[in-house]
Amino acid sequence: MITVESVALQYPALTRVPTAIFDAITSWGLAGLNRRILAQFRQPTGWVGHLVGGVMTLEHAPVTAWALDLLQPGAGEQILDAGCGSGQALRALARRVMFGRFTGIDYSATMVAQARRRNRKLTAAGRCQIEQADVACLPFADATFDKICTIETLYFWPDPAAAFAELFRVLKPQGRMAAVLEYTRDGNDPEQMALLEQQGGLRVYSQAQVERLFREAGFVNVKVSFVPAKKWLYVEGARPTATASAH
Ligand SMILES: C[S@@+](CC[C@H](N)C(=O)[O-])C[C@H]1O[C@@H](n2cnc3c(N)ncnc32)[C@H](O)[C@@H]1O
Repeated sequence: MITVESVALQYPALTRVPTAIFDAITSWGLAGLNRRILAQFRQPTGWVGHLVGGVMTLEHAPVTAWALDLLQPGAGEQILDAGCGSGQALRALARRVMFGRFTGIDYSATMVAQARRRNRKLTAAGRCQIEQADVACLPFADATFDKICTIETLYFWPDPAAAFAELFRVLKPQGRMAAVLEYTRDGNDPEQMALLEQQGGLRVYSQAQVERLFREAGFVNVKVSFVPAKKWLYVEGARPTATASAH
């Protein structure tokens, strides 16, 4: 079966087209256009948001596959994707893991609709649930999930410490959470990153800053993977058992 993920893996150059257009707009300094595009990545809305969801699906398929390899989802686990966008990571998770249960949240109604459509068979089978929610206020009980991933989202969170505290709360002791980013201060053009911040209101982090967010929220065993050629950053941390020290 031909899927977005298989096309993205077979023809990686194709996935760079949206980024190339976006990078060109950034470097041309088209501030107004750039602001409107980036606002859609922050919270996709309406029919343009549906298109942006399609672009993100194509563009994020390779980094998502890489991140899920590192996260190593296990059979029977409950996994949360925070800021699930079009729901492609949920679908990729279900392909890798039998008997797991996958939950997505996103505060964009447009993305929740797209993610539900993409995962309708999984949802009908009772393996997937997608809710509209803000990452800083999650509608789940304490210690619900074995693993959490959040892919290409951190830039947009106004209060990252509050979001990390909330994600820590819903993770089980000994559970692991991963944050994955393509735009960081490590290896990317500083001028382009500055434009992203000025025109898009994104927060571009360094690897050390992301690690600090994990540690300050109480995560332990914080580990980092970085692909210099692609500037992909993966940082993960574990929630300690109740008796272990928090830092
Ligand atoms: C760039 S997209 C990435 C989507 C998906 N993770 C992917 O890799 O394709 C960022 C997503 O995070 C969502 N988002 C941003 N801030 C959020 C927040 N505070 N709470 C929930 N979702 C948020 C947006 O609506 C958007 O769907």
